[in-house]
Amino acid sequence: MKNIKAIIFDAYGTLFDVNSAAEKCKDKIGDKWEPFANFWRTTQLEYTWLRSLMKRHNDFWQITEDSLDKSMMAFNIDPKMKDELLNLYKVLSPFQEVPETLKTLKEKKFKLAILSNGTPSLLNELVKSNNLNNLFDDLFSIEQVGIYKPSSKVYDIPIKKYQIEKNEIAFLSANTWDVSGGGNYGYQSIWVNRNNNIFDNLDYKPNHEIKDLSELLDKI
Ligand code: LAC
Repeated sequence: MKNIKAIIFDAYGTLFDVNSAAEKCKDKIGDKWEPFANFWRTTQLEYTWLRSLMKRHNDFWQITEDSLDKSMMAFNIDPKMKDELLNLYKVLSPFQEVPETLKTLKEKKFKLAILSNGTPSLLNELVKSNNLNNLFDDLFSIEQVGIYKPSSKVYDIPIKKYQIEKNEIAFLSANTWDVSGGGNYGYQSIWVNRNNNIFDNLDYKPNHEIKDLSELLDKI
């Protein structure tokens, strides 16, 4: 990849493991922890898209709670676990290779930022609780524009701040639909395909595909 002036990361699912909250409760939840975690995530994302289309914005924390309520009912999970799951969601663990890779990129003087559906305070807490707070130049939240990804208004945020061209941004996401969103917008896209998934049919294919973040060091 050439002429990259900033590297922008999606947060949830890309840097931080969204399933780690339910996984940490697997002794209490039992074997269904993983389908439950996947259902919670899918419902949460559906609510972001539906609220954007309906123009009924609610912040990501509220949506995370609303989708958790539905998921706990669907999977018959003890309501007493709600606070524990929500508190764990605030301090999700990063994927294993993330801290080292970010440190190396920072040493190479790349501008690094997060662009996420998360609220500013959620993003702050996520990076702080994982000791990653000194690595990012910016934590961009969609709350600035009041609409969720993949609205182009979201992908505009770093362009406006940095005053650079769209293709001077390397955008990384593990979420296929977010890769399509950022790529269609004009970023150079990198799909972080950790689980050997199939890409979407949305008239767009990613510029690059990597298995985890450490492979980024060979591309940039
Ligand atoms: C985010 C969601 C898409 O961090 O994972 O924006």
